[in-house]
Amino acid sequence: MNNTVILSNGVKMPHLGLGTYPMKGEELTNAVLNAYHSGYRLIDTADNYYNEKDLGESLKVLYGKTAARREEMFLVSKVSDELYEPGTIGGGLNKGKFFWKSSPVMQCPDAVRQVVDMKINQSLHNLKTDYLDLYLMHWPYPDFFEEIWHEMERIYREGKVRAIGVCNCRERHFRKLGKSCSVFPMVNQFETSPINTKTSLIDYCSSHNVKVMVYSPLMSLRRKEMSDYQTYVSVLAEKYNRNAAQINLRFDVQRGLIPIPKSCHEERLKANMAIFDFSLTQEEMDRLYSFNVDFQTLPESKACPGL
Ligand SMILES: NC(=O)c1ccc[n+]([C@@H]2O[C@H](COP(=O)([O-])OP(=O)(O)OC[C@H]3O[C@@H](n4cnc5c(N)ncnc54)[C@H](OP(=O)(O)O)[C@@H]3O)[C@@H](O)[C@H]2O)c1
Repeated sequence: MNNTVILSNGVKMPHLGLGTYPMKGEELTNAVLNAYHSGYRLIDTADNYYNEKDLGESLKVLYGKTAARREEMFLVSKVSDELYEPGTIGGGLNKGKFFWKSSPVMQCPDAVRQVVDMKINQSLHNLKTDYLDLYLMHWPYPDFFEEIWHEMERIYREGKVRAIGVCNCRERHFRKLGKSCSVFPMVNQFETSPINTKTSLIDYCSSHNVKVMVYSPLMSLRRKEMSDYQTYVSVLAEKYNRNAAQINLRFDVQRGLIPIPKSCHEERLKANMAIFDFSLTQEEMDRLYSFNVDFQTLPESKACPGL
């Protein structure tokens, strides 16, 4: 299998990437270096992971110590509704500072434009780059959903980002954007796994040329109560001489999805990338699909109006 996918605008994106939340400092730098040596080129972060600055420093080390160049990396960040670093004014309680009608900072007519500009410029500065490869809306913020997207289209046209997309969106969010957008989202990042297959959403994305990036791709393996699923993954792991994480990640890439597992361990980083030299049979894929119980590890957009 080719280890890249092509977005609707022709941009090539790696088929697997490194998740970085909640890594920081030296741990993040080591992960970036080890990931690069294991073949990773895509790195996922977000303004509200509060590790963009550290990732920028890690990339500086990477470019300094290895032959890596900015152009071969695929940097992904996200625009979120928070302002302060966790711990400064209650951590997660700061959600809602932006992108909500009730927020004092959103009262002027071009507030969305100002916030998106501020955030992309901050991300570029932190990551020590003049462009991102992919910029995602972190959540379908209902009060300003289309306005945020239109500002993302603008910064895409300005060349600050090579591609734009969304996270945690369902079909209805795409239908809404479809009415007013000039650029349809190229990527949707959300959680899916054999116990949460989301086949109709993935079919919708595929038929609209939206690539699916899978966050928390290994979290389902922690559901020890799903013993039939766990047992079957172990059977496959033994058959292919792999581990359970590799079976789950292989399931994703065989579906055409782009998983972004996070690890701070060199051996795990290597293993998570070593999934492109074996294939599950259709019968094995079908059996994995059969464990679906729509089990969602993270709340995703459950609180988003309409779900
Ligand atoms: N857009 C969104 O709303 C959203 C939401 C959540 C996450 N994300 C992104 O998606 C990334 C990945 O999701 P995630 O971090 O929640 O979950 P994940 O990548 O599925 O799982 C990470 C956990 O699995 C462990 N792990 C990694 N490789 C392993 C292996 N081969 N064997 C056993 N354990 C392994 C890691 O531990 P060690 O580090 O100790 O190895 C870590 O505890 C995040 O880092 C973030 O970039 C996006």
